[in-house]
Amino acid sequence: MTDSQTNPVASFPPVVVSGIQPSGTLHLGNYFGAIRQHVELHAAHESYFFIVNYHALTTLQDAEALRAYSIDVALDYLALGFDPKKSHLFLQSDVPQVTELAWLFYTITSVSQLEKSVSFKDKVAQGLGANAGLFNYPILQAADILVYGGTRVPVGADQKQNIEICRNLASRFNDRFASADPVFPVPEPYILDEVAVVPGVDGRKMSKSYDNTIGIFDEGKTLKKKVMSIITDSTPLEDPKDPETCNVFALIKLFADDAKREEVAAAYRSGGYGYGHAKKELLGLITERFAEARERRHELSRNTDYVLDVLAEGGKKGRTQAEHFMERAREATGLITTYNR
Ligand code: TRP
Repeated sequence: MTDSQTNPVASFPPVVVSGIQPSGTLHLGNYFGAIRQHVELHAAHESYFFIVNYHALTTLQDAEALRAYSIDVALDYLALGFDPKKSHLFLQSDVPQVTELAWLFYTITSVSQLEKSVSFKDKVAQGLGANAGLFNYPILQAADILVYGGTRVPVGADQKQNIEICRNLASRFNDRFASADPVFPVPEPYILDEVAVVPGVDGRKMSKSYDNTIGIFDEGKTLKKKVMSIITDSTPLEDPKDPETCNVFALIKLFADDAKREEVAAAYRSGGYGYGHAKKELLGLITERFAEARERRHELSRNTDYVLDVLAEGGKKGRTQAEHFMERAREATGLITTYNR
């Protein structure tokens, strides 16, 4: 056995890939959990970042909303500093090879493995319809990654199982169809450090499904109302408070530099500093952090032609890379196509 067979990733060039769900307005939990790291990473490596609208369709079946959220994600990423000259940003639906590869993977996946999917069970427990798309979600995700030859997949800890399924599929495909010359790398898990759990306004983990989010680009009254609604205990204003058990402080910590964090923590402990003060502090920090991005987002939203051009350009790059891997996958599985004759 050669090295490339024991560790196929070694013989493939490094390619970073990640998908972003356009199933709602991106919020601070998404920002600290993944977006910030995506923006930091995207310029350093060959990378493909795509807006996973096929995936979103498993839970969001409203054409107008899906269109709007998809463009919103692109606006958010570009506003937050994603540079389309350095990396590719595009729509999943612009790369039909993804669904083609997913089909090949269906045929080598056992139903019982999918039945063990935690995210499927969670979604069904939340009352989402158990459609076959939701059930097969991890397969489409594996195709998303492998169709570009992804070797590193920066995702939050909740995606561990999906990445494991993807690794299994890459190995299984190579073993079954391409043992002499692996078609796909087995991507390394690249689980992003959770900076901390980002609490939502009700103190539970910030999540669209709990309806407790603060949008990255919320502003004005909307932002103020959400910040003011963050749940705190009822310690009176004059009493000392423990910053470490407070939801407001947990959010302040994410935004403040060390000096600011110490200053606010000391104020909590000394008493005479109320939750109202802390919320004003947080409001200021959020506003300041995203001020420039917000400005840029306003400009971009007036120039959707530019945004669509960026997505078109990214999609073209995505298709080229995907077709390269698909040609090998079709060949390996014995699927004849005659359209290039
Ligand atoms: N399942 C991922 C999430 O919910 C989104 C996703 C779809 C993805 N395809 C991907 C992430 C491919 C990484 C790579 O966040």
